[in-house]
Amino acid sequence: MGAIVPVITAVGGYVPDYVLTNQELEEMVETNDEWITTRTGIKERRILKGEKLGTSVMAVKALKQLLEKSGTDPKDIDAVLIATITPDYFFPTTANLVATEAGCVNALSFDMAAACSGFIYALETGANYIRSGNYKKIAVIGADKMSGITNYKDRNSCILFGDGAAGVLIEPSEDGLGIQDTILRSDAVGKELIYLKGGGSVNPPTHETIDAGLHNFYQDGKSVFKYAVTSMAGVAAEIMKRNHLKGEDIAYLVPHQANKRIIDATANRMEVGPEKVMLNIQRYGNTTAATIPLCLWDYEDKLKKGDNLILAAFGGGFTWGSMYLRWAY
Ligand code: UT7
Repeated sequence: MGAIVPVITAVGGYVPDYVLTNQELEEMVETNDEWITTRTGIKERRILKGEKLGTSVMAVKALKQLLEKSGTDPKDIDAVLIATITPDYFFPTTANLVATEAGCVNALSFDMAAACSGFIYALETGANYIRSGNYKKIAVIGADKMSGITNYKDRNSCILFGDGAAGVLIEPSEDGLGIQDTILRSDAVGKELIYLKGGGSVNPPTHETIDAGLHNFYQDGKSVFKYAVTSMAGVAAEIMKRNHLKGEDIAYLVPHQANKRIIDATANRMEVGPEKVMLNIQRYGNTTAATIPLCLWDYEDKLKKGDNLILAAFGGGFTWGSMYLRWAY
C-alpha cells in the first residue's frame, strides 16, 4: 500500500454581492482609480453589507457549496478548519459556528490565524490529519470580512481589502496526486509593520483604544512590500528547487492576492509566464485568508488532472509559505 497523500477533491466559494469600486472609493478618500490600479492591480472588491453579519455567514455558504458539489453528506465531515483573522467572536470559534450551521455534527473544528498565509497553514494542518490515517474528509476554508477592521478614512489601506470565503475538501488518495510538499515560515519581525493593535490581551478595548484607532488594520505598506517580494518569491523558488521543478513544469502559480506587483515578482522568480498565474485581485482585492481558495474557485474549470500547482503566500506576522500540489481532477 502506498503512502496516504491528501488530495483536494472539491472547491467551494462565496463572495458578497456588493461591489465597492475604485470610483466609489474616490468619493470616500483622496485617491483615484489610476493610482489604485497601477500600484495594486485592484479595480473592485466585494463587501459584506448588513447588520450583525460576520465572517461565518460567508464561510457557511462556501462550505455548503463544497458539500453540494462533491455530493458529501455533512455528517461524514471529520474536521472543519477555518483560517481567519476576522472571526465572528474571540470564542466560540468561527469554525465551530460554521460546522454546526452546515450540519457537520461529527466534525472537530477550530480556527487558525496566520493572516494572509492562513489558508496554506490550515491546508497543511488538514493534510496532516489525513496523513495520520484517522481522518477521511476535511473541509479547509479561508474566510475574512476585512471590511470589519478597515478604516475607510485611511487611503493607505482602505483601497486594498475585500470580503470573501472559499475552501476545499481534502481526502486521502494513493494515486500519487495531491499535496506533495509544503514550506511554512514565521518571523515576528513584522509585528509592528502590519497589525491590529487593539482588542487583545495587551490592549483590551477601551474608549481610548477606540479613539486611537487601535481596532483597525494598520500597515507600513512600503516595508511590508519589500519583505513580501523577497519572502514569497523566495519560498516559491525554494519549493520548486527541492522538488526539481522548472517553470515549464508548472501549470499554475496560485499566489496570495495582496498586490499585483508582488505576484509579478514571484512569477518572474519562478520563471512562469503571466498566462500561468491565477489572478483575481482586480475583482476581489485582498481578502486575506480567502485569496488562494478564491483563485482555485475561479480557475477550477481550467484545471486538469495532474497539473502541477504552486501555492504561495505572505502576510502579517510575518508568516509566509508555499505548497506544491498535483491537481487530482
Ligand atoms: O497582504 C498582506 C501583506 N501586505 C502586503 O503584501 C502589502 C504590501 N504593500 C503594498 O502592496 C504597497 O506598499 C501599497 C499598495 C500598500 C502601497 O503602495 P506603495 O507603492 O508602497 O505606495 P506608498 O505607500 O509608498 O505611497 C506612495 C505615495 C505616497 O505619497 P508621497 O508620500 O509619495 O507623496 C502616499 O501618500 O502614494 C500615496 N498614496 C496614495 N495616493 C493615492 C498612498 N495611498 C494612496 C491612495 N491613493 N490610495
